[in-house]
Amino acid sequence: MTGPERLLGSSIAGERWSRGLPKAELHLHLEGTLEPEMMLALARRNGVDLPFPDVYAARRAYVFDDLQSFLDVYYAGCSVLVEAEDFAELTIAYVRRAARDGVRHAEVFFDPQTHTDRGVPFAAVVEGIEAGLAEGERELDVSSRLIMCFLRHLDADAAMATLEAALPYRDRIVAVGLDSSERGNPPEKFGAVFDRARAEGFLTVAHAGEEGPPDYIRQALDRLGVRRVDHGVRCTEDDDLVARLVAEQIPLTVCPLSNVRLRVFDTLEEHNVAAMLRRGIRVTISSDDPAYFGGYVGDNYVQTAQALAMSGEEMRTIARSSVLASFLDDTRRAELLAEVDTYS
Ligand code: HPA
Ligand code: ZN
Repeated sequence: MTGPERLLGSSIAGERWSRGLPKAELHLHLEGTLEPEMMLALARRNGVDLPFPDVYAARRAYVFDDLQSFLDVYYAGCSVLVEAEDFAELTIAYVRRAARDGVRHAEVFFDPQTHTDRGVPFAAVVEGIEAGLAEGERELDVSSRLIMCFLRHLDADAAMATLEAALPYRDRIVAVGLDSSERGNPPEKFGAVFDRARAEGFLTVAHAGEEGPPDYIRQALDRLGVRRVDHGVRCTEDDDLVARLVAEQIPLTVCPLSNVRLRVFDTLEEHNVAAMLRRGIRVTISSDDPAYFGGYVGDNYVQTAQALAMSGEEMRTIARSSVLASFLDDTRRAELLAEVDTYS
């Protein structure tokens, strides 16, 4: 029996082992790391009215029925982010927190339309986030990449205009993605935008199969040319799709605590991430919007391992997949794979 096999059974040592496992976080909305304390402080600093009088009221509001009920609260919280320094503070706080969970590399989403539609300049958003990521790299040796998401509840023309606004920042944004309200907003709605993004040299990812049907996962692959699928958990409703994900080793960025909070699964014990792993799908684990869903990536690893009786070697496979599925250069990827493989 290897170290982690033995340790995961005994919970305190097993918890510490899973949390410390070197990993990449590939599904993380920066705006979803806005803790109530920072939200209220920024609201005061920027003179923004919030529906929550204090942090307790904010946390009490974090009870969700589905994705949309979460998004309504999440977009309200975003209104406190105004200046570049707000985005920088948010970002460095995330990197410091993630580093304590063994995160060695993070690929973070941001939603520019949530901010530019309120009059915040695109430059303030990107430059603030970039400053926070650069500080995280200097201070903690956490590498990072930036992924710009289009809001799928808005129309394709708005997404195209956002893509055009991002072109001057082309060398600082590795990929484009698709988030927000999934039902009724299929990936194909953004086919032309993603064609243009790929022609401009962006990689592509998309949220698909969180609340939407398996066909949305197919559209993301075939119409948007995605390199990874964000969530993708509803793939298990379609055996042919599962066979394809296994054959092509398409990574899924699965967020178990998010899925329970947004009622995709009733309990963590019923989550399908362990079953998907055991069927040969390249699953990874991330936290999505940790300030709202009750846990950062380490909590997702620890609680998922416990709820689904996953072994240390299974958790190591997931961490390894997170590095393999990243958009890192070969040198850093090899360095981090060695860290995962030699971790004990
Ligand atoms: N799903 C879709 N859109 C989002 C999410 C999510 O979990 N978080 C922030 N935007
Ligand atoms: Zn997400």
